[in-house]
Amino acid sequence: MPRHGVTPGPGHPRSGREQRSNRSCGAPSLGLLWMALALALLDSLVLWTPAGAHPLPAQGYFASFSRAVPQLWNNFRWWNLTCPVCKSLFTVIDFGLQKETNVARVGSLAIKLCKLLKIAPPSVCQSAVQLFEDDMVEVWRRSVLSPSEACGLLLGSTCGNWDIFSSWNISLPDVPKPPPQPPNPPASGAPVSRVLFLTDLHWDRDYLEGTDPDCEDPLCCRRGSGLPPPSRPGAGYWGEYSKCDLPLRTLESLLSGLGPAGPFDMVYWTGDIPAHNVWHQSRQDQLQALTTVTALVKKYLGPVPVYPAVGNHESTPVNGFPPPFIQGNQSSRWLYEAMAKAWEPWLPAEALHTLRCT
Ligand SMILES: *[C@@H]1O[C@H](CO)[C@@H](O)[C@H](O)[C@H]1NC(C)=O
Ligand SMILES: *[C@@H]1O[C@H](CO)[C@@H](O)[C@H](O)[C@H]1NC(C)=O
Ligand SMILES: *[C@@H]1O[C@H](CO)[C@@H](O)[C@H](O)[C@H]1NC(C)=O
Repeated sequence: MPRHGVTPGPGHPRSGREQRSNRSCGAPSLGLLWMALALALLDSLVLWTPAGAHPLPAQGYFASFSRAVPQLWNNFRWWNLTCPVCKSLFTVIDFGLQKETNVARVGSLAIKLCKLLKIAPPSVCQSAVQLFEDDMVEVWRRSVLSPSEACGLLLGSTCGNWDIFSSWNISLPDVPKPPPQPPNPPASGAPVSRVLFLTDLHWDRDYLEGTDPDCEDPLCCRRGSGLPPPSRPGAGYWGEYSKCDLPLRTLESLLSGLGPAGPFDMVYWTGDIPAHNVWHQSRQDQLQALTTVTALVKKYLGPVPVYPAVGNHESTPVNGFPPPFIQGNQSSRWLYEAMAKAWEPWLPAEALHTLRCT
C-alpha cells in the first residue's frame, strides 16, 4: 500500500511501520506528477482553444479546425459562451483528445514540466509520463472535460451537471439496521487459530547486491542504480534498509523459515507483490511478479489455505483500477483474470467470480 510516489520522500523506508508513515511522503510526489500532467493538459487546451491570442502556432487537428471557423472564435469570448457553444467546444476537445498525437502532445508538455519542476530525475519523468498519460487523459476526458461537467462548472447548473466533487446519495436495502451487539470475546480455553499475515512483499526482480542504496531514482539497490561512492557500502545480499525492495532469495528464505512459527491454519495475504519502480512497469512485469511469488507461497505453505487480496501496486499504472464500466483493453481484465487463475486453488468459486467481474 504505502509509497507509490515516483520521488523518494525525505525518509527512507526502514521497516513496515516506517514504510507506512512514508506514505505521506510518497503520495504527494505522485500527486505532483499528476499535477504536471493536469497542467500540461490545461496548457494544451489553452493552446488549442483560440480564445486568447496565443503566440504559438496551433497544429494538427485543432489548427485546421480553428482555421476553418475563425469567425466563431473571434465572436465568442471564452467566458461568454452560450451553453450549446460551450458543449460543442468541449465535444471537440474530447474528440481531439482521442487522437494519439494530441495525447502525446500533452505528454511531452508534462515531461517538460516534470523536468523543469524537478519532480523526478529526467529519465523517470520520461517513463512515468509515458506510462500514465493515456489513463490520465482518458480520465480527464471522461470527467472534468466532459461537456456536461465542464459547462456545468463554467456556465452554471442550467447548462450541465458539475458534480465530480459533490456528495451523492446511496440507496440502502430496505432492511432495518440491526441493533448494535456488544463484542463477545471467546471464553478462555476456546479453540484458537493461528493465522500467518503476509503483506507488501514487493519483489524487485532487478535487485543487485553492491549497487547504490541511495541513488537518485525513487527505487535503488538495482540494476541501473549505479555504484555507491567509496565511502558508503553497497546494497546487501539480502536487502537494504534504504529505498530498496527485496530480492527473491529473501522472500524464499522468509517463507522457507516459517516452520517454527507454525503450523498455520490459514494465511492472509494482503498484496503488493511487485516492486516500487512504478514509473516503469509493464503489464507483463506485474503478471510475472504475481505468478512468481504466488508459486513461491504455494511451494512453502503447501495445503494451508491462503486468502489473497489485491494491493494497490498490483496494477500498472500503479493505483490504476478502472471501474467496471471501462471495457476493452483499458479495463483491469488482464490483471483480474490472471489473479483468478493463479489463486484458483485457494478461493471458492464465488470469490473467483467476483474477482473476474471486472
Ligand atoms: C455576452 O453575450 C451577450 C449576448 O450575446 C452580450 O450582450 C454581452 O455583452 C456579452 N458580454 C461580454 C462580457 O462580452
Ligand atoms: C440526497 O438526499 C437528500 C435527502 O433526501 C437531499 O436533500 C439531497 O439533495 C440529496 N443529494 C443528492 C446529491 O442527490
Ligand atoms: C493494451 O494495452 C496495453 C497497455 O496500455 C498495451 O501495451 C497493449 O499493446 C494493448 N493491446 C492492444 C491489443 O491494444
